[in-house]
Amino acid sequence: MIRTAEKNDVKILAALYNESIYGKTPSLVSWALRTVPERILVVERNRKIVGAAYTDVCDYNNLWSSYFVFKDVSDAKDLIDHLMKIREEKGHRNFYVFHPKEYAELRVELIIRGFLPECLRKLDRMDYIIESYDSSFKPDYKITPPQKRKLRVKIRKGRKEDVKPLATILHKSLPRDFEKLQNAKNCVKYWLKEPKYMIVAEYNECPIGVLLLSSEIGPVTDKNVGMLCYIAVDEKYRRKGVGTTLIEEACGILRQDGKSNIEVDVNMRNIGARIFYARNGFYPFWYSRGYMPHNDGIFHRKDFNSI
Ligand SMILES: CC(C)(COP(=O)(O)OP(=O)(O)OC[C@H]1O[C@@H](n2cnc3c(N)ncnc32)[C@H](O)[C@@H]1OP(=O)(O)O)[C@@H](O)C(=O)NCCC(=O)NCCS
Repeated sequence: MIRTAEKNDVKILAALYNESIYGKTPSLVSWALRTVPERILVVERNRKIVGAAYTDVCDYNNLWSSYFVFKDVSDAKDLIDHLMKIREEKGHRNFYVFHPKEYAELRVELIIRGFLPECLRKLDRMDYIIESYDSSFKPDYKITPPQKRKLRVKIRKGRKEDVKPLATILHKSLPRDFEKLQNAKNCVKYWLKEPKYMIVAEYNECPIGVLLLSSEIGPVTDKNVGMLCYIAVDEKYRRKGVGTTLIEEACGILRQDGKSNIEVDVNMRNIGARIFYARNGFYPFWYSRGYMPHNDGIFHRKDFNSI
C-alpha cells in the first residue's frame, strides 16, 4: 500500500534512512515531515513501512521525486509506478526522479519505463542523477530472466587471425556502426596495431566477444579517462557473463595504465546495453541530443575507486 506520510512516521522513516546510502534522514525529508508530511509517500508491506520518497510539483507543473529509500527495489518500483499514474492523471508535464548514482537497480527500472538521464548533480557530497519521463519514449522492453550457467571464457589480446570472426560479430551486433562487413574488418585491422587495447573473449578456441578500447585522449576526456569504443558478444553467447568479463579485463588494463575511470557513449534506444552498463557499475553523466546520426547518445562512466 502507498500512502502519504504522517508526523508520527518520523521514527520509522529515520531508521530506514539511517540504514540507507544517505546515512541519515535528508534535511529536505525532515523538513517536509515537520511542515508538509503529505509530500512524503510511504510504501507499507504487512503494515510496516518499507520505502519512501519525497515528492513535489514545481511551478512549471513538473512532478519531482527524490530521496528514495527502500528495503527492496520492488518497493521503489511501486512508488515509481504510482507516481507515473499521478503524472498521467494530473497532467504533469515531466516526471523527474533524483537518485544517488549508486542506485543501479532503481535505474534499471527507470530505463525500461522510458526515463532518460538529464544530468549529474552533487549535493551534500553525494552524486545524484536526475532522470526524466515525459511519455514520449516508451521502449516496451521486457527483461528476460538471467541464465543460471555463466560461460568460462579465455581472455586474450587480438591476433591477425581474429579479423574475420571479430568483424562478423561487430557487423552483426552493431549494424549502425558497421553497416558493411568490410567496415568492421577495417576496424579490427586498425586495432591490431594496438592489440593490448583489443580484448578478445574466446570459447572452445573461437573468438565469441570483443571489447575495443581507445588509447586516444578525446575532446571531452582527459588523460585519466579510458574510452570504451565498442563491445560486442556473439548473440548465441549473450547473458552468460561474457560482456562482464570483458569489462572487468578492460578496467584492469586501464587501471594498470593509471586511468581513474572508463567512459562509453550508448545509443539511448539500446535498452539492453544501458541495463548492461548499469549492472556493471556505470552511471550516466551526460545526455547528448542527436549525438549519433539517428539517435541521442548517453555518456556513461565507471569510476575505478568505487570498484
Ligand atoms: C551489451 C552486450 C555486450 C552484453 O554482453 P553479455 O555477454 O550478454 O553481457 P553479460 O552476460 O555479462 O550481462 C551482465 C548483465 O547485464 C544485464 N544485461 C546484459 N544484456 C542485457 C539485455 N539485453 N537486457 C537486459 N539486461 C541485460 C543483465 O543484468 C546481465 O546479467 P544477468 O544475465 O545475470 O541478468 C551484448 O548484449 C551485445 O553484444 N549487444 C550488442 C552490441 C551492443 O549493443 N554493444 C554495446 C554498444 S555501446
